[in-house]
Amino acid sequence: MAYKSMISALALFPMTWAAAADLTSHVDPCMGSESGGNNFPGVARPFGMVKLGPDLYDAKSDAYSGYLSTGNFSGFSMMHEQGTGGAPKYGTVAQLPLVGNTIKDPLSNLTVERDGDDQAELGYYKAKTGEGVSVELGASAHAGIYRYGFPEGSKGNNVLVDVAHVLPSFRGQGLGQSYKGGNITVFADGHYEGSGVYDNGWNLSPDWTIYFCGYFDTTITSNKTYVGTDEDGSTEQPSGTASSASTSKRVGAVFSFNESEVTSRVGISWISTAKACRNVQDEIPAKTNLDTVVQDTKSEWNTKVLNKITTTNTNSTSLQLLYTSLYFMHLIPTNQTGENPNWTSNEPYYQDIFTFWDLFRCTTSLLQILQPTAYEEQIRSLIDIYRYEGYLPDARSSNYNGRTQGGSNADNILADAYVKGVRGAVNWEDGYKAMLKDAEVTPANEPVDSMAPDSSTKEGRGALPDWKALGYITPKYSRAVTRAVEYSCNDFGLYQVASGLGKSDDAEKYLNRSRNWRNHFNSDQTSLGFKGFVVPRNSSGFIETDPLNDSGYWGDPYYEASSWAYTWAAVHDMKHMIELMGGRQTVLNRLDTMFTPGADGSDSGMIFDPTNEPMFNIPYLYHYISRPDLSTLRSRRIAKEHYSTGKSGLPGNSDAGAMQSWLLWNMIGLYPITGQTTFLIHAPWFESLAVDLGGGKTLEVTARGGDADGDGEKVYVQGLKVNGERWRRSWVDWSDVFESGGKLEFELGSRAVNWTDGKVPPSPAS
Ligand SMILES: *[C@@H]1O[C@H](CO)[C@@H](O)[C@H](O)[C@H]1NC(C)=O
Ligand SMILES: *[C@@H]1O[C@H](CO)[C@@H](O)[C@H](O)[C@H]1NC(C)=O
Ligand SMILES: *[C@@H]1O[C@H](CO)[C@@H](O)[C@H](O)[C@H]1NC(C)=O
Ligand SMILES: *[C@@H]1O[C@H](CO)[C@@H](O)[C@H](O)[C@H]1NC(C)=O
Ligand SMILES: *[C@@H]1O[C@H](CO)[C@@H](O)[C@H](O)[C@H]1NC(C)=O
Ligand SMILES: *[C@@H]1O[C@H](CO)[C@@H](O)[C@H](O)[C@H]1NC(C)=O
Ligand SMILES: *[C@@H]1O[C@H](CO)[C@@H](O)[C@H](O)[C@H]1NC(C)=O
Ligand SMILES: *[C@@H]1O[C@H](CO)[C@@H](O)[C@H](O)[C@H]1NC(C)=O
Ligand SMILES: *[C@@H]1O[C@H](CO)[C@@H](O)[C@H](O)[C@H]1NC(C)=O
Ligand SMILES: *[C@@H]1O[C@H](CO)[C@@H](O)[C@H](O)[C@H]1NC(C)=O
Ligand SMILES: *[C@@H]1O[C@H](CO)[C@@H](O)[C@H](O)[C@H]1NC(C)=O
Ligand SMILES: *[C@@H]1O[C@H](CO)[C@@H](O)[C@H](O)[C@H]1NC(C)=O
Repeated sequence: MAYKSMISALALFPMTWAAAADLTSHVDPCMGSESGGNNFPGVARPFGMVKLGPDLYDAKSDAYSGYLSTGNFSGFSMMHEQGTGGAPKYGTVAQLPLVGNTIKDPLSNLTVERDGDDQAELGYYKAKTGEGVSVELGASAHAGIYRYGFPEGSKGNNVLVDVAHVLPSFRGQGLGQSYKGGNITVFADGHYEGSGVYDNGWNLSPDWTIYFCGYFDTTITSNKTYVGTDEDGSTEQPSGTASSASTSKRVGAVFSFNESEVTSRVGISWISTAKACRNVQDEIPAKTNLDTVVQDTKSEWNTKVLNKITTTNTNSTSLQLLYTSLYFMHLIPTNQTGENPNWTSNEPYYQDIFTFWDLFRCTTSLLQILQPTAYEEQIRSLIDIYRYEGYLPDARSSNYNGRTQGGSNADNILADAYVKGVRGAVNWEDGYKAMLKDAEVTPANEPVDSMAPDSSTKEGRGALPDWKALGYITPKYSRAVTRAVEYSCNDFGLYQVASGLGKSDDAEKYLNRSRNWRNHFNSDQTSLGFKGFVVPRNSSGFIETDPLNDSGYWGDPYYEASSWAYTWAAVHDMKHMIELMGGRQTVLNRLDTMFTPGADGSDSGMIFDPTNEPMFNIPYLYHYISRPDLSTLRSRRIAKEHYSTGKSGLPGNSDAGAMQSWLLWNMIGLYPITGQTTFLIHAPWFESLAVDLGGGKTLEVTARGGDADGDGEKVYVQGLKVNGERWRRSWVDWSDVFESGGKLEFELGSRAVNWTDGKVPPSPAS
């Protein structure tokens, strides 16, 4: 929200404003920022284009969201992703405070030490450099504000703007970003404008340009612009302009001040420097106080995001987990409506999708419930990306599709939105065309991904020729098994939308194809005495694998999880899968084995991997053998043992909030089956919780007889009422509690009882 409109909102609704609870104190932006969580701890608005935060340099560690617990500050930059792995993206449009009369070689990757722990609260970040400078940060949607406090007796107060600054990658996988050129001009009034060009990063993107416009609200005593390559150092330019449009010569500027408090406001834009200037002038006008920006940021998060879920629980640990999780799933995608450098259309534009491979299982379905307006915009944006790019993205950053890890999982997301009634201004005929393109047209293998040169990782389904001709994927394609099971789920998505649009021939065709995961199921493949796993295969037949040890990466048959994991992926075909695996009792033992410490032969590890998304659904699959009590027990244990508050509170990369959304569903007591209207019922953590569904609708969840905060043994459902009626199905449908709101009243206890009618949730492909 723009600064000005916030003022008018305040004036119009002072009572509502005062009455609204401030939930931001429950958000800890540093939670999950270390130990691989990679959460972005800086400042941002919901879906904001600016994510302003610290960039740490430590020659041994990639700083995925800029922040590291170790190393020196290389800058405080305006653009970051949230919680991702793979390789860093952005870290662009930076400033760095420096102390000294002269700054030698300012464009030589200067860093300054960190002094003590950084401090953060929602919308506010504070760090201190080893030179004694405090740095405080605030953000609006397209602009940011810096407040520097230089130390008493400083030998010179300077702010460096190094246009070449990016987050580097040290992993040696060819995924590091490069600076490709740029320019900066200092104007007579002291403001600076310019742009930088960069490429690569995790999505292997070609050159992209970002424009910036920076102001100082403090009198500048001197400014110097520089051009310099890494080799010959930085050369001061006499003109006040430094430009390097066609080479990778670095450009930058150093601003100096007499006053010890220095404030700077910076806007960014994907369109032009003029737009970057407008963005900062509109959102953070001259002389705005940092504290005002921080307060506006808090208000926006309260009203747009945090107020969506309320509970009577008062335990600060539980509240911190709840609200911090909500916070971290609303940072990306970025709402870039009005900031699309590629094409002009009347559709909304969102990017920084990182990635649907992570998000399709349970994140996008939660986003739909919490943010129906933004979600409809996101669906429209996806379809518009297809219109202009030719393909839906599985991932997208710097306005460029890539990279696709398994299937074309936007298909699952469109199907989920479709079956749950997302309509509004969505053009579903075009949406279905986009899905058809994924299902029928092999994408060009450009650019060639050196980690998987066989077929496209940019978009679409690279292994489509085999999938269409054979109904399985041969080892000529990397990630063949992962792709095959995900393509099955994608084709199920086409079936759902084709059915809804009355395209019955297509519906039948894709329902058939959604069963082709079965072609990779080898009933003779064994592991730990269990038979039947999805395996690599060619025209001669199945190829043996070691399910305990076949998890791989881009070039392997299985991507980031083993055949123990991927065998469960086709959730639309569970009934058949259970038959193939040998029936309910065997499946019960098999699921139990995945959660048994040491079952895999390790000292204490288990086959179930809480650190990554491919296993997200597995704790809940007991529902399909009529044992929702075990789904509850397993999922609760994973949630309580692997998630916590604190900097190391996440078991793995947040991945744009995927981890946090899994935890939120565990708190709510439901779990979505994406692409279907089914929500599995387990048990909620809190005595009462309400989800504001928008349009005056609410989902109310109450629980009597459970333990405080969901700790302890009283996790089992003894009885349930849905909308006042005794309920014996182990799932609810979208129409039961979401479409018009609804009420779930749980009775919990420490004994597993059979409260259900024994029916299992739908398996539409079986
Ligand atoms: C941080 O800066 C200090 C002082 O310049 C230097 O000694 C140290 O090696 C730097 N650390 C890293 C990780 O670059
Ligand atoms: C700066 O770079 C941008 C983008 O490449 C270009 O449009 C603009 O003309 C350049 N400006 C100057 C002053 O060189
Ligand atoms: C920036 O530096 C140039 C060159 O020294 C000078 O002419 C100009 O007045 C300076 N601008 C400001 C705002 O200080
Ligand atoms: C900055 O301080 C120096 C040294 O005290 C002084 O000569 C100069 O006039 C000051 N400049 C401004 C713009 O206040
Ligand atoms: C600065 O860092 C970049 C990586 O971001 C590297 O390519 C470049 O060589 C470094 N330059 C110097 C002078 O260290
Ligand atoms: C709050 O919840 C946490 C985590 O569930 C628990 O460990 C703690 O004991 C609870 N605190 C109180 C005061 O109940
Ligand atoms: C996305 O951004 C556009 C342009 O700023 C705005 O009109 C729209 O309301 C935003 N969407 C949401 C959900 O805030
Ligand atoms: C959008 O812009 C990016 C970066 O400039 C470019 O790589 C991509 O090809 C463009 N896409 C379209 C559809 O023009
Ligand atoms: C679906 O598969 C069945 C059996 O393989 C086949 O008989 C039928 O023709 C297929 N239907 C379509 C629409 O492809
Ligand atoms: C199938 O794979 C097996 C095992 O790698 C190999 O021995 C066989 O030759 C392959 N068959 C074809 C047709 O490629
Ligand atoms: C897994 O495979 C690796 C390399 O192929 C091997 O070194 C390791 O011993 C295997 N582990 C198990 C548990 O089989
Ligand atoms: C639970 O009870 C129902 C209804 O009596 C029965 O059909 C079902 O088999 C029971 N489930 C289990 C796991 O015993």
